[in-house]
Amino acid sequence: MKQFTSVKDVANPKELVQKALELKKNPYAHKQLGLNRTLGLLFFNSSLRTRMSSQKAAANLGMNVMVMNVTQDSWQIEMEDGVLMDGGKAEHIREAAAVMGQYCDILGVRSFPGLEDREADYQEVILNAFIKHSGVPVVSLESATLHPLQSLADLITIAEYQQTARPKVVLTWAPHVKALPQAVSNSFSEWIQHADVDFSIVQPKGFELSEAFTGSAPVLYDQKEAFEGADFIYVKNWSSYKNYGAVGEARDWVVNQEKLAVTNQAKVMHCLPVRRNVVIADDVLDSESSIVIPQAGNRVYSAQIVLKEILGNL
Ligand code: CP
Repeated sequence: MKQFTSVKDVANPKELVQKALELKKNPYAHKQLGLNRTLGLLFFNSSLRTRMSSQKAAANLGMNVMVMNVTQDSWQIEMEDGVLMDGGKAEHIREAAAVMGQYCDILGVRSFPGLEDREADYQEVILNAFIKHSGVPVVSLESATLHPLQSLADLITIAEYQQTARPKVVLTWAPHVKALPQAVSNSFSEWIQHADVDFSIVQPKGFELSEAFTGSAPVLYDQKEAFEGADFIYVKNWSSYKNYGAVGEARDWVVNQEKLAVTNQAKVMHCLPVRRNVVIADDVLDSESSIVIPQAGNRVYSAQIVLKEILGNL
């Protein structure tokens, strides 16, 4: 593996899930692999899980880690080429990325979308600039459109909890108070179609995701109908792709125990952070139905298998 920005960077996603499960049994077995190697973690946006799980994954492999909150700790970075830099931005991405590539063997980058200009967001300007100018492998820590480390952890979690050979997995839209990216849902839709599952998506009209990521997955609009017989309910809010960045008002899409009654004792997943009783009710999060904590725990093994594969190619 030379970079990790989407499922397309992975030759065999199913095999990667199995490798992660093996790694989880013995996470310190490759302490020498990362010796004298440095991981740089660059955050243009907030994080709890991605930051801590990536640091732990790197430590498990013996790597050094440098973390920077770019917008707070560094110079303001100019992304556009050919501009007169006489404003507030003191450093160009061409130098910033190239210099970071001098200090780090692998760079992780988190950069969310602005959710105002769909075309600009879906061009992945920041992630692609690091790929172009850093000279080292780049790992997405969640980009404008995708969150592959989360999706890999999600598939690891489903593999651990599935009770049938081909579980029914439903991605459901849920309400939120502000506009959130489509990245987790786009990415989960892409990855889950590489697993042996029956996958469908349910959302209010107007919240259809880009077909570039959902492919041929069935799209439903009735949450109760979609939940019938489900083994896994993946809950996530996303703002509208069509009416770009619009927030949904459908508060009755919150996932609670009453709605789970028609499922096959479904396990409930969410990438976190989650707003209780807006997105998922307490009676789900505090019950046996919820697997959000082990799901977050698997972020370590998702990051670790990716770093291990890239280190093996350096
Ligand atoms: N799920 C996830 O990526 O969490 P953070 O935003 O806290 O990193």
